Amino acid sequence: MCGIIAYIGNKPAHDILITGLHRLEYRGYDSAGLTVMDDKKIQTLRSVGKVANLRNKVEGEWKDNSKASLGIAHTRWATHGLPTEENAHPHTDMKGKISIVHNGIIENYKQLKSKLEAKGYKFHSETDSEVLCNLISEFYQGDIEEAVVQALKHVEGTYGLALVCSDEPDRLIAARKGSPIIIGIGNGETLVASDVSALVQYTKQVIYLDDNDIVCINREGITDIFDMTKTPVSRDVQEVDWDLGAAEKGGYDHYMLKEIFEQPEAITNTFRGRLNYEEGTAILSGLNLTPKEMVDINRVLVFACGTSLHAAMLGQYFFEDFAQLPSNVNHAAEFRYRNPIVERNTMAIAISQSGETADTLAAVREAQRKGANVFGVCNVVGSTIARETDRGVYLHAGPEISVASTKAFTTQVMVLLQMALKFGRCHRLSRSEGVKLCREIESTPELIREVLKEAENIKKIALKYKGFDNTFYIGRGYMYPVALEGALKLKEISYIHAEGYHAAELKHGPIALLEENVPVLALANDIDGKDKIIGNVEECKARKSPVILTATKGDDEMKSYSDDIIWIPKASAPVAAILTTVALQLYSYYIAVARECNVDQPRNLAKSVTVE
Ligand code: AGP
Repeated sequence: MCGIIAYIGNKPAHDILITGLHRLEYRGYDSAGLTVMDDKKIQTLRSVGKVANLRNKVEGEWKDNSKASLGIAHTRWATHGLPTEENAHPHTDMKGKISIVHNGIIENYKQLKSKLEAKGYKFHSETDSEVLCNLISEFYQGDIEEAVVQALKHVEGTYGLALVCSDEPDRLIAARKGSPIIIGIGNGETLVASDVSALVQYTKQVIYLDDNDIVCINREGITDIFDMTKTPVSRDVQEVDWDLGAAEKGGYDHYMLKEIFEQPEAITNTFRGRLNYEEGTAILSGLNLTPKEMVDINRVLVFACGTSLHAAMLGQYFFEDFAQLPSNVNHAAEFRYRNPIVERNTMAIAISQSGETADTLAAVREAQRKGANVFGVCNVVGSTIARETDRGVYLHAGPEISVASTKAFTTQVMVLLQMALKFGRCHRLSRSEGVKLCREIESTPELIREVLKEAENIKKIALKYKGFDNTFYIGRGYMYPVALEGALKLKEISYIHAEGYHAAELKHGPIALLEENVPVLALANDIDGKDKIIGNVEECKARKSPVILTATKGDDEMKSYSDDIIWIPKASAPVAAILTTVALQLYSYYIAVARECNVDQPRNLAKSVTVE
């Protein structure tokens, strides 16, 4: 998804901007560009493809001579118009005075464009952002901050933006509505970004703008933050707790592999200080609920997208099994379009790694409109969903850079398990059952380490199956969402068509596709449902499908049902679901590497999907 970095200070801006763009690459993009303000002149360079292309262009055309110390830059993920140089940001207004970078979507851009065209404005791109730039220009009468306020009053949609104006060469303006903007406060310099990862190299002191905030910055720092009525607002300076190392590959070939291997530590961080072994419960102070309030909750609504949706599905099992709470999982994208019923005493939970997913955010707002208490389960601290939800629990998984979500999934599952434990203890879960669950949670990191030791075996199996164009993943019970997640991971990073199916559903249609070129990966761990899945595996073998099983270490009879086996340590069902997911992440990773795919930035995908 698009990324913004902007700089004002006393160093050459282009260097800092290009470095910032590299930090934003993980979000996914298809073109990049930057503007620097050189002695009251706007200079812009843009290019299609990787930031490296832009860097080459900058080095070629400016020959490292640019000393300009104010600039804005952008990575674009196409929404309006193809990924071309003309559509890449920054966009400049017709008079050549204002340059803008913009994330989000201006919904009424066509109407605005027609009005501007009628006044003689000419456009060079298909983008809504160029329209916004010219709209600001239309209102410009010598005060850029005033022009921004006036223009934004006419805008419907979302924006995170940064802009400069050649008539005011010492000012940087940024604004936010529905798309994150963060200000980094450095020593004699100020940065603006859409994502903290672009800032941490320069400063840990940040301000998260709220929706409708506009910020004006000069070379001394922030001069004003105000809202759309020009009323000053005050925003706290916060300390970012990541360092640059946490946002880099740490010696692994890919961020995805690093993040897979980080899972024992990430999971430990999700339960450190949150388990009460004495009482057999979870603490989770972010929920901020009294036992009475918890008892009053009689239904759970969960919404999320993609991988987070699969975590939500496991959460549904947990809430039903451990807390006896009726639960519904919702595609966040569908939630507000089907007029959902939110009853009194319903707890809604929004799950999102990034905390910026537009569909999930829309579902949060819909649930809130209907009076629900919405809890956020997010990874990115200070993200929009984290801030807009009434209460919640952070994952503490650390930055997830690879587009394919790995540690976010397993930590989401862990947080949901702790939530179910806490609610369970207010309902029918006994103290000893609670203590048992605490111990299981605590054992997970070590068991994941055992799975990671299987990496070489998993790689061998992956290499054997790398050439197949289709794969089915089947599971039952807790292993059903894991099958869906395993299939999603394989298709998104290796571009192999993979389907996750409930094992029993196979015979209701998809079995027609099975033949010797369609392997089936069956999740046959020794937990509830194993006996039934053996029957389903037999059905697949009878259609000549090669069968790969995940099975519990020591369950040797499973060898006779499979062509290949991935062994998973013995564990309770919720923990087995996490362990099996880790094994499937490795399987997808090795296949994608063998197929020479761009593992960390798969084609067409973005890390946080901030459009509906
Ligand atoms: C995961 O591998 C995906 N790339 C994607 O499905 C992701 O989980 C989804 O877009 C939701 O993102 P979120 O957790 O940041 O809301």
